[in-house]
Amino acid sequence: MLPNSNNPPSKPKYPDFSDRKNSFLLSFHNPRTWLILILLLFQILLLFTLRSRPFSAYITFHPHSSSPPLSLPTESSAAVHADSSSTITQVDNVTDLCPLGKIYVYDLPLFFNAELIQNCNELNPWISPCEALSNDGFGREATALSNLIPESLIRSWYWTDQFSLELIYHNRMLNYRCRTLEPELAATFYIPFYAGLAVGKYLFKNASSAKDRDLHCELLLNWVQNQIYWKRTDGWDHFISMGRISWDFRRSKDEDWGSSCIYMPGMRNITRLLIEKNPWDYFDIGVPYPTGFHPSTADDIAQWQNFVRHRERKTLFCFAGATRGFIKNDFRSLLLNHCYSESDSCRVLDCACSKCSNGTSEIMETFLDSDFCLQPRGDSFTRRSIFDCMVAGSIPVFFWKRTAYYQFEWFLPGEPESYSVFIDRYAVKNGSSIKAVLQNFSKEEVKSMREKVVENIAKIVYGKPNDGINGVKDAFDIAVEGVLKRIKKHGGDYKW
Ligand SMILES: *[C@@H]1O[C@H](CO)[C@@H](O)[C@H](O)[C@H]1NC(C)=O
Ligand SMILES: *[C@@H]1O[C@H](CO)[C@@H](O)[C@H](O)[C@H]1NC(C)=O
Ligand SMILES: *[C@@H]1O[C@H](CO)[C@@H](O)[C@H](O)[C@H]1NC(C)=O
Ligand SMILES: *[C@@H]1O[C@H](CO)[C@@H](O)[C@H](O)[C@H]1NC(C)=O
Ligand SMILES: *[C@@H]1O[C@H](CO)[C@@H](O)[C@H](O)[C@H]1NC(C)=O
Ligand SMILES: *[C@@H]1O[C@H](CO)[C@@H](O)[C@H](O)[C@H]1NC(C)=O
Repeated sequence: MLPNSNNPPSKPKYPDFSDRKNSFLLSFHNPRTWLILILLLFQILLLFTLRSRPFSAYITFHPHSSSPPLSLPTESSAAVHADSSSTITQVDNVTDLCPLGKIYVYDLPLFFNAELIQNCNELNPWISPCEALSNDGFGREATALSNLIPESLIRSWYWTDQFSLELIYHNRMLNYRCRTLEPELAATFYIPFYAGLAVGKYLFKNASSAKDRDLHCELLLNWVQNQIYWKRTDGWDHFISMGRISWDFRRSKDEDWGSSCIYMPGMRNITRLLIEKNPWDYFDIGVPYPTGFHPSTADDIAQWQNFVRHRERKTLFCFAGATRGFIKNDFRSLLLNHCYSESDSCRVLDCACSKCSNGTSEIMETFLDSDFCLQPRGDSFTRRSIFDCMVAGSIPVFFWKRTAYYQFEWFLPGEPESYSVFIDRYAVKNGSSIKAVLQNFSKEEVKSMREKVVENIAKIVYGKPNDGINGVKDAFDIAVEGVLKRIKKHGGDYKW
């Protein structure tokens, strides 16, 4: 599976020019040398043409700059041009590498994505998310971690917002090796609509109406249903990423929370990648929340794995979270108190007043220093903290099956007990000790669970948006290949 640091990926081997230079120059009169030179030149040209394709399609944006960011139409039409002018598509036998088929990325009107980023100041009434959406959705660089983690890994860490999934998937998709610019060759269609950002804008506004919250989604579905490739299959080969939990898009009454995007008829056949799914809806797929770790190479991953594997952990378990004082019998308050009362073996990080989301290394340090981390449900069943905890090599302790086991099946090991602990929340409510349960595991058992967590890290992180992490499948690869497999399996015969 993952290469571990003992056998790092072998370095590319370069011919030793210092040795050959002389003999090469000496044979310059030889016609074969000329032939070789011409062939070399041709290959270099070929390489350049090939490289220019994915790179010209790559978008970046700068929310603070005055020039229009993320100008999708121009960028992609440039890419289309590059593609049609090249005659090397046959040499580049992509079908070999994409046995599950290729993906076409729709060129949406900017209203559905780029304009939301452009007007990022409006997206949240409390803090400006512009900074959080910078760097391709990764956010600000996490320089404050420099005292905590190996220096060579600092460039892989960002303050990534938990709601930036849509940007991360879109950017990555534009460079995806199985992207095609010709819709007629596509097996699957990706709709780069920022559904979560569009509704997030209104969620906390006092004066927003149900109509405001539905506007973007409604217009998007009208738009997409008018595309010829939608009509081919009634949209069942279309998919979308939605950067909030499913329940934010499932409003049934006007006065309730969220948008009704998922309940709109046009959404019925679209596969949806969400940070929390409705386990009973086949078209919802749960994908990992974005964490701050965005490695670019297999070596970055191996180095990080080594770091967390050998970290000396001082406390048995920890709890990081904000409690909801106003909810009666809030389980998180109970855990917080439980943890305070076991303070010799439990470390508390009280995240009230957004202490944990504001560029400090405290949360990471807490996870790095603990063998186990408590993961109760949050406002919904899942929380970003599950992934922060596991990336830091800490073993998650769950109290609800829906927090992870019934959510992220594609991304977590098959046997829950191999990498996590499940504790009956009613037993905890009745006063049984979490410490007693966790202390009961032998050193070997803890080590083996941690190893499982550590091995799994690549599967729950999002790599840099070029072509992912060389040779290692990250969460994006797994999600997208999963979607392609499902769509291929159902063929054109999927029936309700
Ligand atoms: C590409 O690969 C496929 C599968 O191996 C093969 O059938 C096809 O002939 C190849 N096409 C070209 C142009 O080489
Ligand atoms: C919403 O309205 C309440 C009172 O009606 C007010 O206290 C609060 O500040 C308002 N919030 C926003 C974000 O405007
Ligand atoms: C969804 O697919 C079914 C057929 O599987 C089709 O009858 C229905 O019209 C589709 N819905 C939309 C909105 O296209
Ligand atoms: C945290 O937020 C406060 C304002 O709430 C700000 O002054 C401070 O600079 C922030 N810290 C970091 C590390 O960004
Ligand atoms: C918790 O206590 C109640 C009442 O004392 C009991 O009925 C229940 O079975 C207990 N649950 C667990 C999991 O211990
Ligand atoms: C500890 O483990 C033993 C045997 O594996 C089990 O019988 C016992 O109930 C466990 N204790 C706790 C507190 O989980």
